[in-house]
Amino acid sequence: MLAIIGGTGLTQLDNLNITKRLIVRTPYGEPSQPLVFGEIEGREVIFLARHGNGHTIPPHEVNYRANISALHMQGVTEIAAIATVGGIHADLAAGVIALPDQIIDYTHGRKNTFYDGISLPVKHIDFTEPYCPHLRAKWLQAATDIGEKIVAYGVYGATQGPRLETAAEINRLERDGATMVGMTGMPEAALARELGISYAAICPVANYAAGRGDSLHGIQYEDVIENLNQTMYRVRNIIAQLVKLNGVKKSGN
Ligand code: HPA
Repeated sequence: MLAIIGGTGLTQLDNLNITKRLIVRTPYGEPSQPLVFGEIEGREVIFLARHGNGHTIPPHEVNYRANISALHMQGVTEIAAIATVGGIHADLAAGVIALPDQIIDYTHGRKNTFYDGISLPVKHIDFTEPYCPHLRAKWLQAATDIGEKIVAYGVYGATQGPRLETAAEINRLERDGATMVGMTGMPEAALARELGISYAAICPVANYAAGRGDSLHGIQYEDVIENLNQTMYRVRNIIAQLVKLNGVKKSGN
């Protein structure tokens, strides 16, 4: 079963034919919202808005463990995530959609493992390739099928937020090799890997990161949201195609 985790600018899927909403309790607490079960063109999918229904949960307060655990409890084997970013590399201007292949984690103080020696015994997962290559290939295929050009590589720098970064912090991220910056990519990707769920994220670019391009002297969050609103209909179309390519078709449809 495929699940979609939507981020900023994507708190619901318009083209989803909703069949039920399910409140799930996990050993880690409740997920950001009841899970939304539905179909896109007869293919089943579960949707979860990472920041909750009304976008009320900031990145550092998201209960990532509850979200991933709840999806796992429902038999989810693949998670296609949407995570908004700021572009560090010059190619990543607002409106570009990126499919990163690497992560650098700068977050702190988040509950970032199931294997903490309390809930589950200590275990060290392989995370050399943080995103599932098969699911990345499907994201790319879905975009190509509908004629959307995406940047199919990049290094996602996961920052703590909720504030945006300083220009010097972005310089440092760039020196480290990060090409884009966002606040929600971790620990989500690692937690999915810990439970054996395929995970890959696409990243709509909402703005140039601090000190870059037209963000040289600052970033207006209203502009970020406006840019995202303009990009999200393209993201929705890619998601619909991904679900079509991937999802289980219900008999009779
Ligand atoms: N920094 C961090 N996260 C973001 C940004 C940014 O510039 N834009 C959208 N999400």
